[in-house]
Amino acid sequence: MDVVHEALDLLEALSQDAPGASVAPAQAARLRGVVRALAAAYYERGESLVGDTQYDRLFRALQDLEAAHPELKTPDSPTHRVGGAPSERFDKAVHPVPLLSLGNAFDADELRAWYDRALKGLASVLDDGETPALTVELKIDGLAVALTYVGGLLARAVTRGDGTTGEDVTPNVRTVRGVPLRLAAGAPAEIEVRGELYMRRSTFERVNADLVAAGEKPLANPRNGAVGSLRQLDPTVTASRRLDVWAYGVGPASEPVADTQHATLDRLAELGLPVSPDRALVPDVEGAVAFCQRWAGQRDTLDYEIDGVVVKVERLDYQQILGQVATAPRWAVAYKFPAREATTRLVRVEHNVGRTGVVKPQAVLEPVDVGGVTVSKATLHNPDYLATRDIREGDLVVVKRAGDVIPAVVGPVVAARTGAETPYVPPAACPVCGRPIGRPDDSADLRHLEGGCPAQLTRAVEHWAARGALDVDGLGKKIAAQMVDAGLVADLPDLYRLADRRDDLLALDGFGDLKADKLLRGLGRSKGQPLRRVLIGLGIRHVGETVARDLVAHHDSLSALAEAEGEALEAIDGVGPIVATSVADWFADPVNRTTVEALASLGVNTTRLDGEATAATGETTSAAAGKTFVVTGTLPTLTRPEAKARIEAAGGKATGSVSAKTDYVVAGEAAGSKLDRARELGVEVLDEAALIALLASPAPDPDSTAQEAAGHESAAAPSEAPAAGGQASLFE
Ligand code: IVH
Repeated sequence: MDVVHEALDLLEALSQDAPGASVAPAQAARLRGVVRALAAAYYERGESLVGDTQYDRLFRALQDLEAAHPELKTPDSPTHRVGGAPSERFDKAVHPVPLLSLGNAFDADELRAWYDRALKGLASVLDDGETPALTVELKIDGLAVALTYVGGLLARAVTRGDGTTGEDVTPNVRTVRGVPLRLAAGAPAEIEVRGELYMRRSTFERVNADLVAAGEKPLANPRNGAVGSLRQLDPTVTASRRLDVWAYGVGPASEPVADTQHATLDRLAELGLPVSPDRALVPDVEGAVAFCQRWAGQRDTLDYEIDGVVVKVERLDYQQILGQVATAPRWAVAYKFPAREATTRLVRVEHNVGRTGVVKPQAVLEPVDVGGVTVSKATLHNPDYLATRDIREGDLVVVKRAGDVIPAVVGPVVAARTGAETPYVPPAACPVCGRPIGRPDDSADLRHLEGGCPAQLTRAVEHWAARGALDVDGLGKKIAAQMVDAGLVADLPDLYRLADRRDDLLALDGFGDLKADKLLRGLGRSKGQPLRRVLIGLGIRHVGETVARDLVAHHDSLSALAEAEGEALEAIDGVGPIVATSVADWFADPVNRTTVEALASLGVNTTRLDGEATAATGETTSAAAGKTFVVTGTLPTLTRPEAKARIEAAGGKATGSVSAKTDYVVAGEAAGSKLDRARELGVEVLDEAALIALLASPAPDPDSTAQEAAGHESAAAPSEAPAAGGQASLFE
């Protein structure tokens, strides 16, 4: 059995009667071998053979086993080590003071337990009731490096390696922009700065796009990207990858730098090193718990990956007293977020048909826990995605889940192949309807080459009936499929012909008078929906909420849109060439024109309703309607996409860059250049509370009685718009 299978095997044993599960003493040698091999792959080759949580669980099982049976602990057990051995390719360098690793806390209670131990360790020096303050920092997912400055100049850069001996990577690290080659005046004669080298997500995407374009294998994730880019024998390659660094501590130095962790970081920043602004000094462990929980929820707002929070005792004299156990300090701990990668088997590739006729490969997986969610399906995007990563059916694969994004297969664990895996061959026919599919115009996606696929039609009907579109009450996914399968609906206009086919409806499985009436009533009502929603319902590529609104603001009917030239469409603010081409192409297709004419003749609204053009929705009375917003930084409770969605729902527009046309900039924590620009231009700045208040407040319309008559008074709507500056919440 190879190491990945052994690891999964042991993990299964561990999950059997969780949480107290353990590995049998007889398995100690096996467990040790697996942990050692996984660590070697991770630290020496930058390869993750299993997910982080899976590794942590195995490592911990070994620690537990050795704690319960000290006689089983061998002198070479990986639990003695901080990391992996340095590779042979670079010169080895011994760290004058070892780089420690950190113990982990996987939840708030483990963090509290760590703090309790620290309190005990400090009992003799703490005043009555004194709680030692903590500095909390983000745990950057990259690789540790020790930078030695002599006489203010960068003299040496060494990777962590096994904590005692690392690799001398000085020429490569000199290419990292953030690493100062000379420190600011006043630096100690000699100082070792410690920090984390990492690759930004945006850099990772760019590097991968370049690698794929050059026919090379893409990087699996930003961390692997950082490791791989640093460990290039040719430093110009490292330079081209554009790594970054955050400094987080000081090793040996010729003079003390500061007497607390926070002051150390401030001093490092003064010396010219990049220090993350996302840190805090908290009075006790509850402050640290809050910081950890907040960042667990907003880690996706950063342009780089973090896998947790490092919690450190603030006072260095206290750190000294606490000391260390084996290779980890007692004065610091890593609060680990649930990892969002795990390894599992790709059972087979199946295909999903979308409403535009695209056929997407999807992975059917052996169910696996990824950061607390069981994942059994993951997207594979398109055939190129499988080809460039050489993903095969039967492979063990790494699966990733980020935020609300659909889980994706990152890549195969090539080392675990048995030879029984089968390479993926894109199908030539739709698995549902058997019609030919292919890649017209060299597109990445597989699509239907002819119309008529029932699965595609079912998706189109679902989309038409969905909430943001025609919002047809009584028409859900199941009924859509039933009607298409029974041949009752062959296109969208057929939905409105059902009124004359009540008997056929009643013949469907599970249909009675009630259900049929509800559906027919829902369809009848949907005929009067605003033009914007009809446009969304048609399912034209790239036409969502915002674009539909922009199009309707400039065209008063579907027939006017159908006549519009691509160039005229492009002239509309918010409509780019891709969208314009997509709209023009859609209306140029005779099948679509027939659909639109038929819908109109069946009574579906195809003209702009009164008021639809102005505040763009015709439904909103929010003061935000028609205003342009830019959201920047991290808001306390809303994610940026949520904030944007709310702005758009209130009839406002959320854009990406600040200009003189911007009405409001909504700024959260760590807002950067956009906030500066807003101040330069005198654009009003709101915080989250002020935004929410503004969204809920009525438009300053002189004709406010009309609004009330229209039934739009909102229960919570405050009577005044927020004061300029918008700092005050109206909901206190
Ligand atoms: S402090 C004794 N602070 O996490 C304290 N480490 O397992 C040692 N890391 O190898 C590290 N961000 O590479 C510290 N803000 C941070 C960190 C951080 C990332 C990494 C570091 C270390 C590993 C700990």
